[in-house]
Amino acid sequence: MAITPPSERIWWKEPIARVELIWIVIAFTWGLVMFFMMIYWHGAGEQNLSSEAYQIKAEVFAERTQAMIDEHTVRDESGFPVVHPPAGSDVYMMARLYQWSPILELEKDQTYRLHLSSLDVQHGFSLQPVNINVQVHPDYEMVMTIRPDQVGEYGVVCNEFCGLGHHLMVGKIYVVDREEQSDE
Ligand code: CUA
Repeated sequence: MAITPPSERIWWKEPIARVELIWIVIAFTWGLVMFFMMIYWHGAGEQNLSSEAYQIKAEVFAERTQAMIDEHTVRDESGFPVVHPPAGSDVYMMARLYQWSPILELEKDQTYRLHLSSLDVQHGFSLQPVNINVQVHPDYEMVMTIRPDQVGEYGVVCNEFCGLGHHLMVGKIYVVDREEQSDE
């Protein structure tokens, strides 16, 4: 029993007020516009990469990441390996409570296949400051073909709440110029 029952018993059969109808039409039309904008932005925007998703066991993903770390680590940065994999190769970044590993060092204007997955819960890969966002799930890997076009230091922020250490979960990707590097 309601505290203030509607005066008309069949309240749901009232005719729609004109203003309400107008708002319903506006909201529905805008929803449609935004739906097609998603498709448009996929092609014309620079934030929504074409990603592929595959099922993968967490252990297998961890093994592949470790194999890359073992083979291509070039230095250590406060306990984290910095990995410089060969241009054109498959590169891995693994999410877990609460870290991204390893730190990747990629070459400008080279193409890589970037694989992302999680060992535990869902995390969010947010590459800053370019604002590329990908959801990262356990038992799936998201694979993107990337070609970094600007030298610099990029931050990876977890943007999917994953637990108490969520705000501490940051990673890093370096993009370096191969010519400058070989001068050293
Ligand atoms: Cu990982 Cu939030």
